[in-house]
Amino acid sequence: MRRKLAAGNWKMNGLAAQLTELEAMKPAAATQQTDVLICTPATLVSRAVDAAAGSTIAVGGQDCHANASGAHTGDISGAMLADAGATYVITGHSERRVDHAETDAIVAAKSEAAYANDLVAVICIGESLDERESGKTLDVVGTQLAGSTPAGATGANTVIAYEPVWAIGTGKVPTLEQIGEVHDFIRTQLVERFGAEGEAMRVLYGGSVKPSNATEIFAVSNVDGALVGGASLKADDFNAIITALDAA
Ligand code: PGA
Repeated sequence: MRRKLAAGNWKMNGLAAQLTELEAMKPAAATQQTDVLICTPATLVSRAVDAAAGSTIAVGGQDCHANASGAHTGDISGAMLADAGATYVITGHSERRVDHAETDAIVAAKSEAAYANDLVAVICIGESLDERESGKTLDVVGTQLAGSTPAGATGANTVIAYEPVWAIGTGKVPTLEQIGEVHDFIRTQLVERFGAEGEAMRVLYGGSVKPSNATEIFAVSNVDGALVGGASLKADDFNAIITALDAA
């Protein structure tokens, strides 16, 4: 049985005052079956870990460099995130792939850096609107999955997040059939490559998840939770998503 995961991605949002929202998530996070994760800006990781004290909320980073240290101005290493108290890190988010030209090989190297520092890598993949409309979704997702997931991936160190680029922050969501098709495909690919470990890896859906659509998305096969951007910034919204996932 895979544990469910409700993951929030605050992106480049949040000053210290935002941590009151994290604190207000503690009661909802006290569930039996669902893990809760908030990926804060790097500046807030350590304070978020303090704010989460006494709860089961895990704190993650949103990116890490492939190297452990060195002359990479402005970057942050997996070791630094772990030192700040993070236990997860997002790798290969589409905004990183686009804004910073991250390739599958770079994403795989970053995910290996996560493993080396005992961080769970939340590896993001997903097609653009053009790719969806030209019928290339499974090709693109399959290529990204194979190229971005290191050979050492296990159910314990890796979470896959399927995020159609056109659904992120747009309010547009694929049909439940489209979500199911891609999640079933990802599961098949993971099991083919990793066997039982591929069965154990959680596969999240991401892209415009909100309280009003969470329940129906969580009922889709092979959806083990969500990676949530905008709706993770407000405790009221994210708590409703946690509760919907726990009930699924
Ligand atoms: P969104 O973002 O929920 O605001 O669409 C999801 C993500 O980018 O992880």
